[in-house]
Amino acid sequence: MLKVIPENTVQKTSPFKKNEFNNFLADDQLSKSQLLGLIDLAIKIKKNPTDYNQVLAGKSVAMIFEKPSLRTHVSFDMGINKLGGHSLYLGQQNGKLGERERVSDYAKNLSCYADIIVARVFSHDSIKQLAEHASVPVINALCDLYHPCQALADFVTLTENLTKLGKDDLTQVKLAYVGDGNNVSNSLMIMAAILGVDFTLISPKGFEAKASMIDKAKTLAAESGAKLIFTNDIDAIGQQDAIYTDTWISMGDEDPSKKKQVLEVFAPFQVNHNLMAKAGASIVMHCQPAHLEEEITTELFDSEMSVAFQEAENRMWAQNAVLVSLFSN
Ligand code: NVA
Repeated sequence: MLKVIPENTVQKTSPFKKNEFNNFLADDQLSKSQLLGLIDLAIKIKKNPTDYNQVLAGKSVAMIFEKPSLRTHVSFDMGINKLGGHSLYLGQQNGKLGERERVSDYAKNLSCYADIIVARVFSHDSIKQLAEHASVPVINALCDLYHPCQALADFVTLTENLTKLGKDDLTQVKLAYVGDGNNVSNSLMIMAAILGVDFTLISPKGFEAKASMIDKAKTLAAESGAKLIFTNDIDAIGQQDAIYTDTWISMGDEDPSKKKQVLEVFAPFQVNHNLMAKAGASIVMHCQPAHLEEEITTELFDSEMSVAFQEAENRMWAQNAVLVSLFSN
């Protein structure tokens, strides 16, 4: 029998005040308490999914994908189903976003039918335009600058691993990201800075995070007390609890003529057992898809230290926490 959760119970679980959370576009829109509230809610939904199985009853979610996806597509689709809602996948077969019609018209049309829009796009500007012109909430499912759903799932994962790490809370965790300064590292760094997690970003010269992202993170860290380190020196990794990596070439950045050079430049930045031992890290994280023997060794990815599949599962619970929050204020 379906358990119907009374509306006021749902409202109590949202970490947001009325009208405080209308879109999920970028990590820096959240305060520390809101972020901790979302992490807590994700873990609650994961433990008792049936308590939330009517939150999206009668609601439809339009999912726009300009780029390929496995985890994002499946975790939103199945997560929405677990909340009692319906989702519709919109790939590029009906025309590229902004080409066949304006992004603003796309947003206005979708708002006629959908109760929420999830979008994976090439440019953050498209996310901003969708949010500006849609009359329903918009969730960023990855753009060139951010991957906030991934970072939220990653901090849910670290929270679940606190005991294993011998820590009482996230502010005691030291996290290093090794690799390309990209959308994934931006979101991770910004959330770490909000939460007060010490964060080290190690990238080869020329592949660092954008200065605007570093400035944002520094401002947030000054408030939370997070210590941020930016370096090109892999030997400066220091002591870490967890090491994170992602592809060296993100979707949209592929240039076959540069691949050989990229592989050479990044080779010393491979995350492997030696690096884990040097840093004293016990957890390795990856948003996937993993390019085995490039940014991470197969041996490490398949090892007990890897929480990649826990992160993948937590995408669904983290996103469901966002969906529940958007629909309960
Ligand atoms: N940085 C990667 C993340 C994939 C989930 C990309 O944008 O392709």
